[in-house]
Amino acid sequence: MGASPIFARRSIRKFTKQKVPKNLINEMINAARMAPSAKNRQPWRFIVLGGEHKTEFERRMEYGLLREETEPILPRSRFGLPDAKNTLKIIREAPLLIVIENSNGKSPFDLIDCDDRVTEICDSLSIGAAVQNMLLTAESLGLGTLWIANTCFAYAELTEFLKINGQLIGAVATGYADEAPPPRSRKSVEEITEYRI
Ligand SMILES: Cc1cc2nc3c(=O)[nH]c(=O)nc-3n(C[C@H](O)[C@H](O)[C@H](O)COP(=O)(O)O)c2cc1C
Repeated sequence: MGASPIFARRSIRKFTKQKVPKNLINEMINAARMAPSAKNRQPWRFIVLGGEHKTEFERRMEYGLLREETEPILPRSRFGLPDAKNTLKIIREAPLLIVIENSNGKSPFDLIDCDDRVTEICDSLSIGAAVQNMLLTAESLGLGTLWIANTCFAYAELTEFLKINGQLIGAVATGYADEAPPPRSRKSVEEITEYRI
């Protein structure tokens, strides 16, 4: 059981400088697209950033985090800014960033009705399944990953740069791990399960 990528995977926050071969990136994305999706909508889209493209992403994210300190768009999430700054540092060190878009989605700053919310929940779940496929495939290919949602603090800055028309979901920092963290705590099976059998 311990050998399964499900149990071996950890969020990696330190990467070596070694580049990720393109065929391995393709394997990750190939696994992502095999995920189930609501009504088989396959609402995922991925933008792979390296080199100067990743550097520009970092600039935009830094700008957004600074702007968020003085003109917050997410005032009640302010407590998350130090963690977001740390995430930006990790992105800078990672050789590759895979941006995740919900091609069917709208900006989280737009108001939506209940129908659209149900659709959005289903699309978000489908994308979550695709991202987990990516992470587990990366693990089995010897790569480390960090799933990132702290992009939300720089939403406008990043979507403008990325030319995203749908919804920016987040990103996956990818590279070769330069750390081997222990498993993070998990709730027990008993704690999360109610048997009515
Ligand atoms: C949707 C989602 C968003 C996340 N966003 C971030 C992030 O922006 N920065 C970060 O350092 N970790 C982020 N994480 C990683 C979690 O902190 C991590 O998965 C959790 O602490 C459990 O650790 P593990 O992945 O090593 O088991 C995110 C994870 C998920 C699933």
